[in-house]
Amino acid sequence: MRINIFFTPLGLTSADIAGKPVIVIDILRATTTIITALANGAKAVIPAAAPDEAARIAQNLERGGVLLAGERRFEPIDGFDLGNSPREMTAAAVTGKTIVMSTTNGTLAIQAAEAGNPVLVGAAINFSAVVERATPLVEAQGEISILCAGRERGFALEDAYAAGRFAQALLPPGGRRKVELNDAGVAALELIKRYGDRWKRAVSASAAARDLGKKGYRDDVVAATEVDRYDLVAVYDERQVTLGRDAETPRR
Ligand code: MLT
Repeated sequence: MRINIFFTPLGLTSADIAGKPVIVIDILRATTTIITALANGAKAVIPAAAPDEAARIAQNLERGGVLLAGERRFEPIDGFDLGNSPREMTAAAVTGKTIVMSTTNGTLAIQAAEAGNPVLVGAAINFSAVVERATPLVEAQGEISILCAGRERGFALEDAYAAGRFAQALLPPGGRRKVELNDAGVAALELIKRYGDRWKRAVSASAAARDLGKKGYRDDVVAATEVDRYDLVAVYDERQVTLGRDAETPRR
């Protein structure tokens, strides 16, 4: 079995993941926010690379059924309906809506995972559900990639820790000796030795958590570490993230 972790989407090629299972992570905050939106009744979340792309996509969707969401420098984008806070994704705001979302790193990472099959959207808040879905896929395919959004093309501690937790949970009987890991995989598992199962401590130690705190979004950091709050798996397929699709359905 092989587990590949990518600390950022930089350097990831379609060939690395084509047809193979991928878990994509942006703990602070995009994947946490997307999962919360879907849990609270959003129909789908469509990741966009940039705000103008999001606006273009939204124009082609049913008016009244679509919301624009996202952030730049943590703050809501001018003219958009919602920011990138999981606390904004209430049932009242999102039920029945398609959300077109552009964030600095997270939505780009999801798009970068496009060639994977399936592409599971992971966070602490749906950790066990993703592990449960991914386990038979890894057993069948012999390989999985875990893609971190990272920060501005660089390493992000909260995502690397989460990647290590997913990797650890997916180790086969016989453990690490039975698995081929890339170097990022080895490093991520070392992080688990440092932080153990303490999601809050690992996530709070990150620069993103500190910056979110300074901007008044400390509660979003707390929300991002509510482990297993949702028992659901979100899948990116045909350019949208939904709960409704079977992760094992072959694409296109
Ligand atoms: C991102 O995609 O870069 C993040 O989700 C940033 C944020 O916390 O809003």
